[in-house]
Amino acid sequence: MTDEEEIERIRKTLGQTKGKDIKERFHACVMDASYRFKGKVMPEMIKQMMEDEEDREYLLGNVNHVLEDFFYNGSTLANSGFMKRVKEYSEEEYKKLYPRFIEFLFRNKIFDGNDNLLETITLDGAMTSRMGKLVEEISQMQGCDSSDIEWAGAGKYSIAYKVGSKVIKLARERLAEDIPDHPCVLKPMYDKKVMANEEKGQEEYLEVEDYLEPLEKTNFKENERIVLDLFTKLRKSGYCWIDARADNVGKTKDGVHLILDRDAIYKEQYFREHKDEIGKKITLGNYERFEQLRLDELGAQK
Ligand SMILES: Nc1ncnc2c1ncn2[C@@H]1O[C@H](COP(=O)(O)OP(=O)(O)O)[C@@H](O)[C@H]1O
Ligand SMILES: [Mg+2]
Repeated sequence: MTDEEEIERIRKTLGQTKGKDIKERFHACVMDASYRFKGKVMPEMIKQMMEDEEDREYLLGNVNHVLEDFFYNGSTLANSGFMKRVKEYSEEEYKKLYPRFIEFLFRNKIFDGNDNLLETITLDGAMTSRMGKLVEEISQMQGCDSSDIEWAGAGKYSIAYKVGSKVIKLARERLAEDIPDHPCVLKPMYDKKVMANEEKGQEEYLEVEDYLEPLEKTNFKENERIVLDLFTKLRKSGYCWIDARADNVGKTKDGVHLILDRDAIYKEQYFREHKDEIGKKITLGNYERFEQLRLDELGAQK
């Protein structure tokens, strides 16, 4: 389907389902759940709804329902352009909803090794206000607006957003104590342990750093090469990078590959002494595989 056809289809569906609940209307728009949160469908739908008075009133009057039951998570909210549209429509309305958006964006869902939801960290009022200010400050510094915030990605412990050319990341846990000072590892501009929710005693690590372009998902062989190169460089410096994966690597504007997930990089000796313990928290499979590849390569060079 071309973009024009898609836009037309959304227009038609929205017209036919007017007055109904957003979930119902949306169901008619796109039946495929994996598709609806990708590409242009959501942004186009939100755009059209915000242009229509009745629909706009519905969205703004049912923000909780729209966020919780329709968007489900921060990635959908960020990708939908809803914040941008609200801001365009009314500065005042945006200002009013901003804390709600921030709280929703930075709700950090923590999953275990089998992708079971372990815990949800919901920012308390103080932290929401702090994050709201941080997003605004970084946006201004970058010459953009807080409503331009984009989804960067999430891991088992983290949630990350792109603001201009920076990333704001909240991470629940850190496996290795300190961040290795190594040229292959992206350095954060800001890195602090914060109280995300005082009442629940939930702490998180707040990090700000450069945005790195993700590696192309399709280029498996090339990505293996990139990961192995970084892995080998770290090994030569006496570090063991346990979570060696393409998802944890990105490319700078200058085309340099760096590790963006600084967690689980241990000093060699520490890793050897605590291997069993570490293995309970994170799979050692990636480490073992790349260590083997590294040794094979060393052997071949001899
Ligand atoms: N600096 C960054 N630039 C671009 N994307 C990032 C950056 N940091 C994190 N991300 C995205 O967020 C995801 C999770 O961040 P990561 O640091 O790997 O956390 P975790 O320890 O939970 O795996 C990454 O896989 C990536 O998609
Ligand atoms: Mg990661």
